[in-house]
Amino acid sequence: MRIIVGMTGGSGALYGVALLKALKELNIETHLVVSTMGEYVLDHETGMSLEEIKSYATVFHRNNDLAAKISSGSFKTDGMVIVPCSMKTLSTIAHGGSDNLLTRAADVVLKEDRKLVILPRETPLSVIHLENMLKLAKMGVRVMPLSPSFYHHPQTIGDIVNAIVARTLDQLGIEHHLAKRWGE
Ligand SMILES: Cc1cc2nc3c(=O)[nH]c(=O)nc-3n(C[C@H](O)[C@H](O)[C@H](O)COP(=O)(O)O)c2cc1C
Repeated sequence: MRIIVGMTGGSGALYGVALLKALKELNIETHLVVSTMGEYVLDHETGMSLEEIKSYATVFHRNNDLAAKISSGSFKTDGMVIVPCSMKTLSTIAHGGSDNLLTRAADVVLKEDRKLVILPRETPLSVIHLENMLKLAKMGVRVMPLSPSFYHHPQTIGDIVNAIVARTLDQLGIEHHLAKRWGE
């Protein structure tokens, strides 16, 4: 499998890091692109540099490289996950903008009718945010708000993060044993 992972400037960089690590463990090819604010929040929230996160991805693309492979529909992928997804990137995608590689890659995934999974983070949500999510959901985009669950009794932040990553892998149809399922 080949999955594009986008990380933007919404809070929750840890989720993106954990997803990349999980995909690497599963030997899945990843193409990573990080927005400028994604890089800032990554450093702010985790102390991790771009160099460090690059090591978890199979291929890293600069966000201003609009000529990268993932910019073209002819480059086949099995979908894209954007985590965390800021309201700005959500809005750009919902309006068909392709102002950087991350939003162009998402636009390509949509036009090619491939799987797009976004994990937006903001609170409270304005009508604009909600309408943008509804628009994408109507197109088949999987909208997974970064709202952690507690019914599985998480003990650590890692447990909380892994539960979200597990549900994300489910959406991509990837088998995993990252978190217990209800009833297990
Ligand atoms: C520490 C920090 C946390 C932020 N958290 C969020 C957030 O949770 N959701 C959001 O939509 N924007 C958040 N922002 C603002 C975005 O980073 C900003 O709107 C940016 O333009 C997003 O651009 P991007 O989508 O290209 O990364 C945050 C900014 C900072 C500095």
